[in-house]
Amino acid sequence: GKYRVVSTKSMPGTRWINLLVQQDCRVEICTEKKTILSVEDIIALIGTKCDGVIGQLTEDWGETLFSALSKAGGKAFSNMAVGYNNVDVEAATKYGVAVGNTPGVLTETTAELAASLSLAASRRIVEADGFMRAGLYDGWLPHLFVGNLLKGQTVGVIGAGRIGSAYARMMIEGFKMNLIYYDLYQATRLEKFVTAYGQFLKASGEEPVTWRRASSMDEVLQQADVISLHPILDKTTYHLINKERLSKMKKEAILINCSRGPVVDEEALVEHLKQNPMFRVGLDVFEDEPYMKPGLADMKNAIVVPHIASASKWTREGMATLAALNVLGKIKGYPTWSNPNQVEAFLDENSPPPA
Ligand code: GLV
Ligand code: GLV
Repeated sequence: GKYRVVSTKSMPGTRWINLLVQQDCRVEICTEKKTILSVEDIIALIGTKCDGVIGQLTEDWGETLFSALSKAGGKAFSNMAVGYNNVDVEAATKYGVAVGNTPGVLTETTAELAASLSLAASRRIVEADGFMRAGLYDGWLPHLFVGNLLKGQTVGVIGAGRIGSAYARMMIEGFKMNLIYYDLYQATRLEKFVTAYGQFLKASGEEPVTWRRASSMDEVLQQADVISLHPILDKTTYHLINKERLSKMKKEAILINCSRGPVVDEEALVEHLKQNPMFRVGLDVFEDEPYMKPGLADMKNAIVVPHIASASKWTREGMATLAALNVLGKIKGYPTWSNPNQVEAFLDENSPPPA
């Protein structure tokens, strides 16, 4: 291969590799055993000639790395993630490196995890599982692990983009929840869906669902029973959920975070969980990954999973493919291929890459 493309991690599937190899690229996959690579590790990987890199959200892609990549002749970097708070796009631009991410292919998978955590939290599934395994079950009781019925309750979505809207649809369609959402932008398609679904329920003689776009985030916090966070992480969303905002939520509310850890002040959250035993959280992300703030692991009203929201086979293969296409597109001068439907077609039919 004429071009050298480095992937800082082994990624699922082989299509992403085949795609690059078929298009004049030599693919080098880092074999380092440690999970999180340092800037120095990555500089060594880039070496003296590197045309493009596929990297991970655990890596700090700033001035130092883009400068090194540029010196090695690199033109493209793709995060294998939709979020890119680990990437300094300004620095990349300064060094002439194009940046890609992998939206679209992870929307439904991520929304499904948020929905899973919502159900697990509302029905206390993890706690109940622990109870069974500990041999504590000695017979059915009217009070045993009583949780919340979602039907007719209100789901609150903060950040109603692709993932937030997909999650909202699942909770509305699946569990007939009412919707309140907060976003700087109007979620037009979501609004149309809820309106139509409400009419459908009414026509079937059922209670229709309702929806409302909140004019402030606090309205969502005060009114929703289940609140799911789907913003991007930047300066404006850092500690979006803090002590004060937690105190505005219902005492028995459920909070779900599958976005980025620092969107929530995790220390304040631990304190809130301690003070409010009926308040429950489902967390996929943490402020200081891979660590949890002290006390969080001891809280029975918290469900914690290790940043697996996009972890379905189809999605992870799609992310790898999309990341490869981002890098390839730039190296070969193709238009960036970030249409998830095309990726889906590619994954399903193994259709040839765009020429
Ligand atoms: C995962 O967290 C992603 O941003 O894709
Ligand atoms: C519970 O198992 C019931 O039958 O109500």
